[in-house]
Amino acid sequence: MARWASSTAKGGTRDRVEAPVTVRGYLLCVFAAFGGILFGYDSGYINGVLAMNFFKQEFGSPSNDKEAYNGLLYKTWEKSLIVSILSAGTFFGALVAGSVADWVGRRSTIIAGCTIFSAGVILQVASTTVALLVPGRLIAGFGIGFVSAVIILYMSEVAPKRFRGAIVAGYQFCITIGLLLASVVDNGTKNLMDSSSYRIPMGLQWLFAVVLGVGLFLLPESPRWYVKKGRRDDAARSLGTLRGQPADSEFVADELNELIANHEYEMRHMNAGWADCFRGGWKPSSNLRRVVLGMALQMMQQWTGVNFIFYYGSTFFKTVGIQNAFLVSMITTAVNVCSTPISFWTIEKFGRRMLLIYGAIGMLVCEFVIAIVGTVDEGSKAAGMCLIVFTCIYIFFFASTWGPGAWVLIGEIFPLPIRAKGVALSTASNWFWNFVIGFITPYMVDQDYGNLKAKVFFIWGATCTACVVFAYFLVPETKGLSLEQVDRMLEETTPRNSAKWVPLHLRGDHADVSSLETTEKTGSVPPVEHREHRAV
Ligand code: BGC
Repeated sequence: MARWASSTAKGGTRDRVEAPVTVRGYLLCVFAAFGGILFGYDSGYINGVLAMNFFKQEFGSPSNDKEAYNGLLYKTWEKSLIVSILSAGTFFGALVAGSVADWVGRRSTIIAGCTIFSAGVILQVASTTVALLVPGRLIAGFGIGFVSAVIILYMSEVAPKRFRGAIVAGYQFCITIGLLLASVVDNGTKNLMDSSSYRIPMGLQWLFAVVLGVGLFLLPESPRWYVKKGRRDDAARSLGTLRGQPADSEFVADELNELIANHEYEMRHMNAGWADCFRGGWKPSSNLRRVVLGMALQMMQQWTGVNFIFYYGSTFFKTVGIQNAFLVSMITTAVNVCSTPISFWTIEKFGRRMLLIYGAIGMLVCEFVIAIVGTVDEGSKAAGMCLIVFTCIYIFFFASTWGPGAWVLIGEIFPLPIRAKGVALSTASNWFWNFVIGFITPYMVDQDYGNLKAKVFFIWGATCTACVVFAYFLVPETKGLSLEQVDRMLEETTPRNSAKWVPLHLRGDHADVSSLETTEKTGSVPPVEHREHRAV
């Protein structure tokens, strides 16, 4: 049974008891992370499919490119479109989902996303031409947009507070598993010389959508959404199921009171429309500033260049003379899976800011090494080996830092009234940049266009350098703070000093009146223990 202490307005200490987290309750909360598999698999499978001979033959047209199979290959613009149209769909899906989730509920929005996605999968599996494949990926992408934007919201609303960070990082872990599964399946079907080579990897996506949709159908709706809609009995029932307690138990009543008090407090202080996301001017704690931060975080995550490896790795490795490109691609995805769980611990131990700064430094070093060795010693065995080894180290850095870090932060920086929309906008930004990078990359590396070969890593190295600067100057440390404290921290300090910031009531004998008032009003208990030791 977990206990924690909080200060009351009178400065005393009050113990509150949180419902014990049962294994069943934990699994219920963590289940939605399964949506990450959908996200990862869907964005990853196309990489291998594009490199398949049968696919080139079926979807291609006459070409002299050395990548062609039997003189057939899709055109560069077709490749760009096939890869990036998914992200275009997800971009719009994520934006729309911000409103739908407030309207019909979080769970229902995710289920609707799975249904839309399934329609897209049918078109993809049925396709034998780019003309049908592209709309299939666009529609599937729209569904994924719903799923990816709302899952973080759903998970953070149903999770017990203590596990929120780890559960969101669990979502990123599932993304990496999805990517790995895609590459294993691609590897298994790549030599088939009939349509099952690409139809199997495409069709399998549907299974994940069914599991997620049916699973969520059996799970409760977010209690916070019920509170928003004034359906308090439903909220109590939902909390009871999630915490493994009777709906009329004291645990449930306590947590529900906290939700209701929070909601009422927020509604008194803030409106929650789309326009409100862009209000407040440029002061550090304004909604506008937070939305820009969330969107920029996701943009910079894409500019680390990670999806160059995951979307185009198989085709790129071949162009620089690596024979078993599929195998290398599987290795990179396996490194991605194995490195992500490290973040479950590091994100709480070192904080979000440090992780992003050092992660980007690690990545940029790897990228410049690959670029320099690959340019100086082009086509050599040593350059090939260097590419493989440093790509793996690069992925290690991404997976243990920016991968989960960007998602965890967007779940923490928004005040609750605009949280659904803020997370949706940030997720849409992820997909927008995902689209842009997916679209322009072939033009940078294809033989007939930029033909940059390993030099492309100079670009990713430069953008990762920008990530270091961005994280250093603009990303605040949110570790160990409640949402109310994040508000105060953003008002009182700069991102660079944010890790040292402590709530006023922990600084000597001052009383942090507003924070305590908030605590009183909302019953929300600041998780201060992480920062107390830094107060000195
Ligand atoms: C990113 C994806 C990327 C994946 C790789 C996610 O956090 O948003 O674009 O493909 O990580 O693991």
